[in-house]
Amino acid sequence: MLNKPIGLLDSGVGGLTVLKAVKDRLPGESFVYIGDTKRCPYGNRTKEEIITYTLELVQFLLDQQVKMIVIACNTATAHALDIVRSKVDIPVIGVVGPGSRAAVKTSASKEIGVLATVSTVESGFYEHSLVEKDRDVKVKSLACPEFVDIVEENDYESQRAKQLVETKLAGFKTQEMDTVILGCTHFPLLAPFIQETLGKDIDLIDSGALTSYEVERVLKEKGLQYEGTGQRTIRIYTTGPEKMFRTIVENWLETDQLDIGSVELERLREADV
Ligand code: DGL
Repeated sequence: MLNKPIGLLDSGVGGLTVLKAVKDRLPGESFVYIGDTKRCPYGNRTKEEIITYTLELVQFLLDQQVKMIVIACNTATAHALDIVRSKVDIPVIGVVGPGSRAAVKTSASKEIGVLATVSTVESGFYEHSLVEKDRDVKVKSLACPEFVDIVEENDYESQRAKQLVETKLAGFKTQEMDTVILGCTHFPLLAPFIQETLGKDIDLIDSGALTSYEVERVLKEKGLQYEGTGQRTIRIYTTGPEKMFRTIVENWLETDQLDIGSVELERLREADV
């Protein structure tokens, strides 16, 4: 069990922001990542579609013999976390809980912004999660589906991206708001522009980075940490074209020591979790 990999899933490249944090925090662990680029974005899809696709990705990871699953996608966490947990018998971690906990701790004014996909915003999952932790918290959410597209197009460092962020976030910040959750795992790639637009006085919460602590905690609690000395492996799969995906993966993870490949959607559709 101990030398099995940790599995992560996302609709595309967004979950790499979580993989980056988790792999840096846990240097001995191996990982398998799947990004469903072909069907990305999930954020504009129905709840039913999101659940079906997430379960297909989960089955793919189970087939890779993972010891834990990280749903490195807020949209999939919002709609499918409980369902996945009810169907598999290994630990399953989502990204909304760690982000909300950190935001509630960080915010002095108790006025918190959430930037996420349409589907995450409409689900009310963040509001629920935040208010559950502190019922005095006020939440203002904004759906930013355009941010997902520009990241998937590998254009997230461009002038176009900067302008998009400025236009989209104009008027979002309220006087009292002091904390903003990047409630989509694609958004940390735009964090420099988001921070510049909202100002230095806003604390940005990257739920991916915080999830790495949760992964470490659960591994310890369940006695699942890798304690050997062997070389770890990081395997990364996409359901879409490999070229652009590979460029983003190598840029973002700052290494080419990765095993990157594609997987046919048909293979995923055989899922029967
Ligand atoms: N990265 C995903 C999230 O955290 C979803 C992006 C999308 O597919 O719309 O919500």
